[in-house]
Amino acid sequence: MKLRNQAKRKVLGGFTKVYLDQYWPETPESALGWTDNAVLMLAYQDAGLAVLKHFGGKPMPLLDVSTGPALAPLLALLTCVSEVQLSDYNLDNRLALQEMDVSYWRNYVPMLTKIYDEPYNHVDEILGYLDRKKSQKLPVNVDLFNDPIFPPTVSVDNFPIVSMNFVADSIASNRQDYFACLGKVLNLVRSGGAFIMSAVVDSNGWSLGQELEPSPNVSEKIITDFLVSNGLVIKNISRSMRYSDLSYSGGWIVLAATKE
Ligand SMILES: C[S@@+](CC[C@H](N)C(=O)[O-])C[C@H]1O[C@@H](n2cnc3c(N)ncnc32)[C@H](O)[C@@H]1O
Repeated sequence: MKLRNQAKRKVLGGFTKVYLDQYWPETPESALGWTDNAVLMLAYQDAGLAVLKHFGGKPMPLLDVSTGPALAPLLALLTCVSEVQLSDYNLDNRLALQEMDVSYWRNYVPMLTKIYDEPYNHVDEILGYLDRKKSQKLPVNVDLFNDPIFPPTVSVDNFPIVSMNFVADSIASNRQDYFACLGKVLNLVRSGGAFIMSAVVDSNGWSLGQELEPSPNVSEKIITDFLVSNGLVIKNISRSMRYSDLSYSGGWIVLAATKE
């Protein structure tokens, strides 16, 4: 889908702004939320390094399923990515991905200690790299409840790496829907390819402003068993801290897997 061609939008769409403010704020607004994100960024870096190793140190094209307005995960995965196709279900998120200044993510760069020497001394350079990568292709539409999930213009076979961060687990309210959505994404992972995923686990839901969003309440074991039964091999897994004051119940995992 062609995005609206217009001057830089100063106002972010409703979902986009609420989501960014609550989950990916520009500056540290709560010590706990910021720390949770720092641990998450370390986890993404580990997943990216596992995938980079799988491909013998060569970065590969990545297809990200529902990026939201969030570029921090890509920032942490950059070392394993040669080019990227971002996507989202929500038009405002796709516009935000296209139009937001990458300097929004400035305060997340110093968290990249596993993949860059002294990232805090190279913030502009690393942000410039992020900007070039994310600007190579327009974000596309995706709908996990559709089949196929991407429009036919997206050549899904061209991506050795597929990623999906907090999506199937954040939109499905029951396990049947969850596995249907996750299964469609796993079908995009080609033989010899890699899959990076984060998901909320042991959770009854997550808040978005005043709304309670669904979660299928899956455990790490339920997810990894499903991946293994779909032919994936888990290469790396990281787990969150668990605190009751966060905007979601339970915890999260980040994993890297490959399809043999
Ligand atoms: C919790 S957010 C995760 C966003 C981002 N990947 C991240 O890690 O912050 C869930 C995303 O799923 C998207 N979404 C909602 N309904 C969807 C659907 N039917 N198919 C695919 N994505 C959907 C939303 O627009 C939102 O960006």
